Amino acid sequence: MSEPLETDYLVLGSGIAGLNFALLAAEHGRVVVCTKKAANDTNTNWAQGGVAAVLASDDTMSLHVEDTLTAGDGLCDRSIVEMCVEEGPSHVQRLLDLGVRLDRDEHGKLDLGREGAHSRNRVVHWQDVTGREIQRALLEAVNKHANITILEDHIGVDLLSLAKYGGDPACFGAYVLDTKTGEVKTITARATVLATGGTGKVYVYTSNPDVATGDGVAMAYRLGAAVCDLEFVQFHPTVLYHPHARNFLISEALRGEGGVLKLANGETFMENYHPMKSLASRDIVARAIDNELKKSGAECAFLDMTHLDPAFVRGRFPNIHERVLALGIDMTKQPIPVVPAAHYMCGGVKTDTRGETTIKGLFAIGECAFTGLHGANRLASNSLLEGMVYSSHAAAAVKDSPRARPAQVAPWSSGDATDSRDAIVVALNWDEIRRFMWSYLGIVRTDKRIERARRRIEIIRDEIREYYIDFKITSDLIELRNLSLVAHLVIESARRRKESRGLHFTLDYPEHLSEARHSELQLTNGPRG
Ligand code: SIN
Repeated sequence: MSEPLETDYLVLGSGIAGLNFALLAAEHGRVVVCTKKAANDTNTNWAQGGVAAVLASDDTMSLHVEDTLTAGDGLCDRSIVEMCVEEGPSHVQRLLDLGVRLDRDEHGKLDLGREGAHSRNRVVHWQDVTGREIQRALLEAVNKHANITILEDHIGVDLLSLAKYGGDPACFGAYVLDTKTGEVKTITARATVLATGGTGKVYVYTSNPDVATGDGVAMAYRLGAAVCDLEFVQFHPTVLYHPHARNFLISEALRGEGGVLKLANGETFMENYHPMKSLASRDIVARAIDNELKKSGAECAFLDMTHLDPAFVRGRFPNIHERVLALGIDMTKQPIPVVPAAHYMCGGVKTDTRGETTIKGLFAIGECAFTGLHGANRLASNSLLEGMVYSSHAAAAVKDSPRARPAQVAPWSSGDATDSRDAIVVALNWDEIRRFMWSYLGIVRTDKRIERARRRIEIIRDEIREYYIDFKITSDLIELRNLSLVAHLVIESARRRKESRGLHFTLDYPEHLSEARHSELQLTNGPRG
């Protein structure tokens, strides 16, 4: 039995938030970053758009604040929005200082793209692969830092709580499975930071990579942390529709540069839904496409770039151009087939302005966190900004965290668990959850659909609990357990919201309630964990 590994700061996740935290915190302590696959298997690495910040001469902080509040549909925390927007330009500078390349215009100024629901151009980007460029630069810096250890193929199993040893519920680390050897390690830390990214894999159609299974939200909830607003799942309006390309995002930046949404017959339709047409906020565009597809029975809509200069399109979107061309679609000559898909979780683990959750010693940053910035619908490209802001705050906050851990930490015990003979159960449950979540908790909801999903998830979760006790854990089982809990939390949050707001649209309550409320859930007073 191996001794616990002791560090100052344990980070779970290696996207923008986790790595920027690691770099800053490594200035005052040792950091271990656990990541469940390769260090660049992250949502950040897949981000195409960029980072929103007020940098243009015709832009102001208050315009960015107002755009964020409007998209958030009454549920953003104004003071948090103001804080993030005001810090934006300094975080763009930090990225440049870290060696991140960002596109510039012919005068050498940062090129600013436009995305949906932004009233000004304010998205700094590197071609159409901004996330990949940020991931590259952060990883390079992290790999050079003597105080940071990255453990690839290590997935968090459960968080450690002092409550198990008779203390308060403070977190002091995590059990982590080395997926290559099957060993569960105990890692203790002065502060534990969840930077586990999104939850897109809860849905069968998603723009997210396979790692986005909501692990941080699930682990925090099981520990007793409050989670908030998980019904607000953002569906990106334009993910490539092609049988041989799963999950490939067609960035909103294409519409920002003049791309127009059309139906199969070549007609435009967004003018019937919003004055901003193809550049309306994502909830509106995704619902409009969904409605048009349901009306006509068509399988996809189209994004038309053919009226734009082909050289500009190839230069500005080299990655998307190349990718769709390989599938036989020349986007300079023909429209791109697109459908909406799950893209971003606006809710998450509730934190304060320093990124600390309702459990002492446990922090949540990046997509897995609920900070108050996004409200009921995130404004495009505010997420990488939020990741930078909160990773910086958390790194400053943990500096004086006390070391609080029991003298003896119980190692992970698998009891009488045996190797599974029925791995098919994992695959089947996984598939079933993702399909009914798409059908019942998708873009348009009803009480009946939510209730159907609730009944199914309870049966599946009982089966998973049994399976979890009987068989040795694997990363697939850990992910399924987390995914099923997140699905349950999305369902419970949606069940409580008796109105349509932002990303939560239900035919049974099409209007807003007069008072905007968050839907907070916690194990102690909420549904079963
Ligand atoms: C996109 O490029 O459309 C995605 C940007 C974002 O989700 O903020």
